Amino acid sequence: MASFISRLSLDSDALAVFVNEKYQYKDKKGVLPKSIVQRINSFLGVLKAKKQSDEINSFDISDKQKCFIVKIKNKYESFFPEEIGGRFFSRLKQAKDLNKIDLYIDSLGLDNQKSAVFFSEFCLGFNLKSYTFNKYKTTNIEKINKKIIFRIITANKDNLKKKYNYCEAVKEGVFLSRDLVSEPPNVLNPKKYTEEIKKLSKLGLKVEIFNEVKLKKLGMNALLGVGQGSENETFLVVIKWNGAKNNFGKPLAFVGKGVCFDTGGISLKPAKFMEEMKYDMGGSAVVVGLMKSLALRKAKVNAVGVVGLVENMPDGKAQRPGDIVKSYSGKTIEVLNTDAEGRLVLADALAYTEKKFKPRLIIDLATLTGAIIMALGEEYAGLFSNNDELSKNIFKSSENVNEKVWRLPLHKNYDKLMNSPIADVQNINYVGGAGSITAAQFLQRFITNKTPWAHLDIAGMAFSKKAANLNPGGATGFGVRLLNNLIIEYYE
Ligand code: BES
Ligand code: MN
Ligand code: ZN
Repeated sequence: MASFISRLSLDSDALAVFVNEKYQYKDKKGVLPKSIVQRINSFLGVLKAKKQSDEINSFDISDKQKCFIVKIKNKYESFFPEEIGGRFFSRLKQAKDLNKIDLYIDSLGLDNQKSAVFFSEFCLGFNLKSYTFNKYKTTNIEKINKKIIFRIITANKDNLKKKYNYCEAVKEGVFLSRDLVSEPPNVLNPKKYTEEIKKLSKLGLKVEIFNEVKLKKLGMNALLGVGQGSENETFLVVIKWNGAKNNFGKPLAFVGKGVCFDTGGISLKPAKFMEEMKYDMGGSAVVVGLMKSLALRKAKVNAVGVVGLVENMPDGKAQRPGDIVKSYSGKTIEVLNTDAEGRLVLADALAYTEKKFKPRLIIDLATLTGAIIMALGEEYAGLFSNNDELSKNIFKSSENVNEKVWRLPLHKNYDKLMNSPIADVQNINYVGGAGSITAAQFLQRFITNKTPWAHLDIAGMAFSKKAANLNPGGATGFGVRLLNNLIIEYYE
């Protein structure tokens, strides 16, 4: 939580003053001591005289206190505030002995509404960039755990608080998603995962856990087949948030692939980088993180999250290439490759979600194919949909928060490639390439009531070894902000 103050406090290690492109700022009498105002003004004079200057500059007020001048563009893209927030955090992290900073946000001179939007997003970016996952480190902990706390100097507290609360809720969702993905696979097995989700009950979410006995009764054999070779039990978890005025109104549905570890099964993956397959539950982690944000911000919407949690292992009991399973939908699937398991998980989760909840729309998220990384790398997630309006909305939101998606086609000619000679559908295509598209075509076979549906293939986005603007490297939480934005812009 941020704290709000009305003037610079003596015990802070630093002050940030926000200025426009011409190095102008608005100072209200009494917020800063006169002596500091003079120092700032003369420093700004120096910066103005330079032809080119950085976005963030600093000088020492004393040997205990620094002052940062943060220059804000007059015209910017919608995601600029969070990005500069992230860059500002990185800059502060380099400075030694800096733990507490006061942000003088009124200095930018925006009107109250604009200021609230800009700075809540700025703080979101700052917070997202500050994420760490240190629980397994036992040495150098002090340095690693260094935290930077900010306080906001403003007379616009009431306006800001509302927006800020939204951003805090989003951040909490992103952090939960990152935490789940970062956990090693020996810790976060499906059972442990259900326990973590169950903890969300205290926020007002309803959590229902289906174990193997229940899944068998329901006929979710596609999902169960994937976990057949694992010592760890398979689960499906339903998470509900009823925040709309009409409690029984049709919900938005979010479905996630939660493969806690993907060895490939009997169609075993090569050893190199197999460890990365701990993040094969990334899609489900986005769904869980999203549901947490919705509860924290008391979203005025009905939503349901459905995640299939399972471990894909080779074993004497494991599913074989060539097995045929009867899915929840009634359709039979010929499993030609046990490494194409994500779609088997989603087949049952999607069919169940559509039938049970009759949702307004379904969006699924999955680290589904290596092929999407070939096509789009670590820049864009693949978007597939049976509905142009839903697609357009997702695309707009992706631009708003800079979590980029790119739509790829669905077509009956690709669909045909998934026909099996002896079952209703097969889980891979042997000819024709287009691995991400044919995976999406497979999923579409399990959306049978024309529900508006979109599939996000986030294999390239859920995890990155590289640090980026808004994360320090590792799990990204990609999708939580996108879906929160989608809901608040179009469905709330
Ligand atoms: N979990 C993988 C996809 C993946 C690959 C995610 C790399 C993240 C990084 C998925 O289960 C898989 O193995 N897909 C296969 C499908 C193939 C057998 C048709 C793939 O992409 O190779
Ligand atoms: Mn696989
Ligand atoms: Zn997988």
